[in-house]
Amino acid sequence: MEQMKRIIAFTGSNNPNSINEKLVQSIISKYPDQSIKFIDLKRFDVPIYSQNIEQHGIPKPIKILFQLFAETDAFIIASPEHNGLPSAFLKNTIDWLSRINQKFLNEKPILLLSASPGPAGGKTHLQILEKLMLQWGALFVEQYSLGSFDQNLDKVGLVITNQQENIKLEKAMQAIINEQPIKKKQHVDVVQDYFNAFQNGNMEQVLNSFHPDCYIVSVKEEERPKEQLHGIYRTKDEVKQFFNNINSLFNTKDFTMEHISSAGDNLVIANGTFSHEVKATGKLFNSAWVQLCVIEDEKIKEYRFYEDSAAFVEAFKPHTLN
Ligand SMILES: Cc1cc2nc3c(=O)[nH]c(=O)nc-3n(C[C@H](O)[C@H](O)[C@H](O)COP(=O)(O)O)c2cc1C
Repeated sequence: MEQMKRIIAFTGSNNPNSINEKLVQSIISKYPDQSIKFIDLKRFDVPIYSQNIEQHGIPKPIKILFQLFAETDAFIIASPEHNGLPSAFLKNTIDWLSRINQKFLNEKPILLLSASPGPAGGKTHLQILEKLMLQWGALFVEQYSLGSFDQNLDKVGLVITNQQENIKLEKAMQAIINEQPIKKKQHVDVVQDYFNAFQNGNMEQVLNSFHPDCYIVSVKEEERPKEQLHGIYRTKDEVKQFFNNINSLFNTKDFTMEHISSAGDNLVIANGTFSHEVKATGKLFNSAWVQLCVIEDEKIKEYRFYEDSAAFVEAFKPHTLN
């Protein structure tokens, strides 16, 4: 029989009422069959790193911690976000550990968590921390952040009340337990799948390609009356409106993508041409287009679409009699 994994869990918070600790405790009680040992870093009395102190030897609590790290199979680390970065408290512990061995995470999988009262849940700093964890020797890193903490976690029962959040956390936990990183879609594939769905007229899949909290700019970054095509759309409900507007204005004769590529961490750029017949005038609106997409959680979070707006205006002018 496969041996149960030993998992060490700790937070980077020195707050006695830490919400990150509550998140960790909720995971420990949710997985009673797993061997998850909570370590309270507050009890490790560690000075702020200084070369001067190090000259007199690495502090004993750090040596103990290092040994505990060596004896575990996996980690759960909950990191509070302070001004877009990990807390100084966590960073200090890490700095000390790295003085014994920079690869102190020893080729082990890590579930990186963060919780915050804000909607993003401290996700921003996890991107940075994930890269650093790999530098510190992690085998692979999964992330989970719980935003809007007060609404999403029942503080009495210490359970996450939002089902979608539970599903995400479960996926990340299973990856750590089974030592199999979650297969993630490449950013380019997210956009390519969206195009395929659009071209096949699969509206459900088109809508599913967008992040619930998405932001769309159709040509002009300004507010718009509901039925106006160009302007800003927010959230999934308005994504529907965006495609309704396209469908009510045009019969699409041709829509071609010529190029698609990843352009940095989360950005995908695509361009091509289209030919729309304007229903109101029967004229053709032909244009080149450029699309920029920012991808988050394998969904399109930000979408900017640019086309020839002069040709758009022209195609809507009624035919004039010569
Ligand atoms: C100095 C400071 C900076 C903070 N910066 C952020 C931040 O950048 N993003 C965020 O989501 N929350 C931020 N917060 C709010 C924390 O998410 C919140 O205090 C949370 O409770 C910290 O986790 P803990 O309770 O586990 O210590 C900040 C809090 C402090 C004290």
